[in-house]
Amino acid sequence: MSNNRLTIALSKGRMQDEALALFARAGVVVAESELSSRKLVVNSTDGRYSFVLVKPADVPTYVEYGVADAGVCGRDVLIEARADVHEPLDLKFGRCRIAVAGKREVLGEDYNLLATVRVATKYPRIATAYFHARGVPIEVVTLSGSVELAPLLGLSDRIVDLVETGRTLVENGLEVIDVITESTARLVVNRASFHLKRAEIGALIAQLTESLNQ
Ligand code: PRP
Repeated sequence: MSNNRLTIALSKGRMQDEALALFARAGVVVAESELSSRKLVVNSTDGRYSFVLVKPADVPTYVEYGVADAGVCGRDVLIEARADVHEPLDLKFGRCRIAVAGKREVLGEDYNLLATVRVATKYPRIATAYFHARGVPIEVVTLSGSVELAPLLGLSDRIVDLVETGRTLVENGLEVIDVITESTARLVVNRASFHLKRAEIGALIAQLTESLNQ
């Protein structure tokens, strides 16, 4: 992190375009030539910001360790990571739910508190906390994607996964059993940067807030 330039960790993939569009509305523009390259570090045209493009689940790590001053990632990722970062702003986009889902046949079925439920998920902590709070013993099968496959292939009884439009569930014969929580994109800030770069971080929060309210 150089002295007054801000380094921002952005989730690659589904949230990247919306995050960059929000920054552009806030006056922080990255040239198209940078974005169409395979570079993993891109700079704003005014040179005041560097964006590092990382996997969503890694954003809290980059910010907590201070290699990025701030980051944009989903609340889902933040809850799972339990990272020690500031979370000053709800950016409102990327709205989705984290839900328990399963095959239609298991809908309405009560949990047998003596039998272990096998749950496939990218969110082992969230899944464990949900089932433990209900006294249901679980075995977590941690996957890194295409979680909806697990019940279809008999790898798990249930899944805990992100549901946005619900299309992936429907097209794989699955249904929501319970919504655990809702998620939107959040701005997160490294605790030291929050103090050491107070002016720059404060200006960024003010600019983003203004764009959100436009
Ligand atoms: C997420 C999530 C679901 C899907 C939900 O996966 O894990 O599979 O999106 O979206 P929908 O409700 O709009 O259908 P993602 O696309 O991030 O890919 P992944 O399966 O590789 O994690």
